Formats: sequence, structure tokens, C-alpha cells
Amino acid sequence: MEKEEVRELFDKYGEIFARQQEKDMNRHWLSEVIQAMMGEVKGKKILDTGCGAGFDSKIMAKKGAEVVGVDISPKMIKLAKKKCKGLDIRFYIKDMVNTGFRGESFDLVTSIITIGWNRSLKKVLKEYYRLLKKGGQLILADVHPIRKMVVYTGNYFETGKHWEVSNGWERFGYYRKIEDILNTAIEVGFTLKEIREPKPKGVKHKFYPYFLVLKFEK
Ligand SMILES: C[S@@+](CC[C@H](N)C(=O)[O-])C[C@H]1O[C@@H](n2cnc3c(N)ncnc32)[C@H](O)[C@@H]1O
Repeated sequence: MEKEEVRELFDKYGEIFARQQEKDMNRHWLSEVIQAMMGEVKGKKILDTGCGAGFDSKIMAKKGAEVVGVDISPKMIKLAKKKCKGLDIRFYIKDMVNTGFRGESFDLVTSIITIGWNRSLKKVLKEYYRLLKKGGQLILADVHPIRKMVVYTGNYFETGKHWEVSNGWERFGYYRKIEDILNTAIEVGFTLKEIREPKPKGVKHKFYPYFLVLKFEK
């Protein structure tokens, strides 16, 4: 049921989201941080889960990676195909919790601002773990829990499903503490390799991080 809700949300607001994202210098900055954490991607087989309009799929494919993108929203996949026209990327409408791809078939999995729409983080991370080759990496980026607290709840410990209104669209998200994310990943079997909290650029509110970026290894 909730998957339907996510699909509807992005089918409806996907275009607005993609437009806003292109104009957001901190979103571009996030991708730069992610690329630095990944290192060389040429020749690597990468699964971009919840790929949205293909923002990062495009960057990775242009660097020579073999990219597969999945998203639950047909609208987002349509936008991704348009944005990445001419590049050799395979896009599929799929639930990232149950992709149906063969196990141990990717060198790298990316999950960029996607986990907040999924009730069970454990199910998501288990699927990522299954899909990665031994020694493969997961790059997981999300809106920083501190930002959720500053902008919406005022209480870091208020986790669970929340509705929020931002930039003209109403959406829900699962709020989590950093320890919830890290402990779930460790429970699933991942090893934490790096954590980044990029300082926002060019905005008034530079006193808290916008994004949390984690690198794990299988
Ligand atoms: C905020 S957008 C981010 C898109 C892209 N990763 C980016 O950073 O531009 C979140 C995306 O995750 C997708 N999504 C959320 N839950 C998903 C799931 N279970 N399976 C596949 N896609 C999902 C949504 O449809 C949406 O396109």
C-alpha cells in the first residue's frame, strides 16, 4: 500500500522535484562528495537504486561505469531516460527492496535520498547486501537527521513516519537517528568505511549539515 503512495507522490511531483534539484547548488555539491567517496568508477557495474530523474546515474555513466537504474515511479524513470538520452544506461521500474536481480552482481550500489520513503530500512539494506559482490561498496546518502530536526520536529529522538511540506509539495518520510542507520547496516553485515557531513554552500544556514553520506563495504 505504502509503495503505491510513494509511486503516486513521485508520479505527481517528480517533475517539480527534478527541476528544483537541478537548481540546487547543494545537491550538486552532494554529488561531488559522493563521486570523491566512490573513487574510480570506470568499468564498474553500478546499481543506482531510487535513481529518480537520473541525476547521479548520468554522472557515473559519463565516467565510464556500467549503470543500471531502478525506481518505483514510472514518471521518474521516464525523466531519467530523457535526461540520460544517448548514454548506455538500463532503467527499470522496480521496487528497490525486491529487484529480482541476481545476487552478487554489482560492484557498487548507490542509494541517494531514497531510504526515507521506506518503512523497513532492514529490508532495503538486506537487498543491497544481497546484490553486492564480496568487497563491493554501498554509498548511502540521505537528508541529514539533524536537518529534519532543525526544520521539522525540533526533537532528534522523534523518529518514524512524518508528513512535511517543502518547496510546494506535501510528502511523508521516515525519520531516523544516525545510530538507527548505522546499527541496521552493521546488523545486516556491512562494514562502515567512511562518513561525510558536507558543510552546505552558499546559504544562510551553514550551521548544520544538509546531507549525511555513508560508505559501507560488504
Ligand atoms: C528524492 S528522490 C531521489 C532520486 C535520486 N536518487 C536523486 O537523488 O536525484 C527519491 C526517489 O526514490 C524512489 N523510491 C523510493 N522508494 C523506492 C523503492 N522502494 N523502490 C524504488 N524506488 C523508490 C522514488 O520514486 C524517488 O524517485
